[in-house]
Amino acid sequence: MKAINSIIIIGSMLAVFAATFSTVLWPALHMPSEPSEAWRPMTRLEQEGRAEYVGNGCTYCHSQYIRPQDWGVGAHRIAKVGDYHEQRPHLLGSERTGPDLSEAGGEHPNDWHLAHFINPRYTRPRSLMPRFEYLGRADIDKLTAYVQSLGGRNADDRVAAQNRYGAEAVAAYRRGPDANIEWLHSRVPVYWRTMPTQTPVTRASVLRGEKVYQDYCVGCHGPVGDGNGPAAPHLMPTPVNFTLLQRHLVEGKYIGGILYYQIMNGITGTAMPYFKKDLESAKIWDVGNFIEQAFINHVDDKFRTVEIPVAYEGEKKQRRKTGGERP
Ligand code: HEC
Ligand code: HEC
Repeated sequence: MKAINSIIIIGSMLAVFAATFSTVLWPALHMPSEPSEAWRPMTRLEQEGRAEYVGNGCTYCHSQYIRPQDWGVGAHRIAKVGDYHEQRPHLLGSERTGPDLSEAGGEHPNDWHLAHFINPRYTRPRSLMPRFEYLGRADIDKLTAYVQSLGGRNADDRVAAQNRYGAEAVAAYRRGPDANIEWLHSRVPVYWRTMPTQTPVTRASVLRGEKVYQDYCVGCHGPVGDGNGPAAPHLMPTPVNFTLLQRHLVEGKYIGGILYYQIMNGITGTAMPYFKKDLESAKIWDVGNFIEQAFINHVDDKFRTVEIPVAYEGEKKQRRKTGGERP
């Protein structure tokens, strides 16, 4: 009996050791220690931001690795071992309540991050990320520096582009609202500037567009489209006031294509994000149709004779009467 007991004890110790050795020690000893081509050392500020990231539990919702099977949802780059060189503790994470952040650097400019950390609902109305306003400006700046470093040298290239275009956008903004809109439109390729909306401006399209607007745009561009959403005080340049586009309706130029192009690609250097990852083509046309109807009081000529939608204002009144339910 005794002999059998000790065989069981020694046997199970060996089993535990074998499992630990093969899944922990062996990989740790053979981990390549070479940094990847994208890796670079972190600055002091970025390291402080990393400590904030750990301390505030960002890993509970965000991962930092792209697997081969994650490729194809807008991911920049599949993770390599050397990307994590000298990172202790590693922050791979196992939850994706929020998006993966391994390539977050340079995706947005700093002013977007400021508004987003103060209250994520400002930049993404349906976000469930908690507010981090209580951290105060200094710690938010540290976190921003850290997030902008994610992706290493690749992120540095994106951040440099944000800064370069950001300087141009701020200069245009300072020239006044109409000059700014002219500058914005001059950067939209002619192909898009001369394209009317490609989705008929029907009642259904405008209502779908309104839903998209409430879910994605209202925190910046504001409930009445004047650019005064709650994020605006934290942003430079501030969000476009759509009602001004009234003054930019000229012969041969269509608003539909311009809106589509700007919404799809975003405006690098400004807080205006690109929506090609979030919205399929039809919804981008729909939100453009909504903006034209609700804020510019305009319909691209092409469909003027096809179907004039029920006046948007009338619809809203009707809905108020029926207690918010859509007729
Ligand atoms: C409860 C879950 C949760 C926690 C905790 C959380 N986030 Fe998020 N985060 C989200 C969700 C959901 C989104 C997507 C919606 C949005 O943009 O807010 C997001 C978006 C982001 C984005 C934007 C990504 C992009 O490409 O648009 C960044 C950057 C970010 N979070 C950083 C952080 C940092 C840094 C912390 C810790 C201080 C943190 N998050 C904590 C859930 C979370
Ligand atoms: C985080 C803030 C933010 C969010 C969210 C946002 N925008 Fe913007 N948007 C901006 C800023 C800032 C500008 C102006 C940049 C400038 O003036 O250089 C802008 C500009 C635009 C323009 C360019 C207008 C023109 O005439 O060229 C369009 C169109 C636009 N936004 C549509 C949208 C739509 C539609 C959504 C939602 C799907 C949206 N935006 C969400 C901040 C935002």
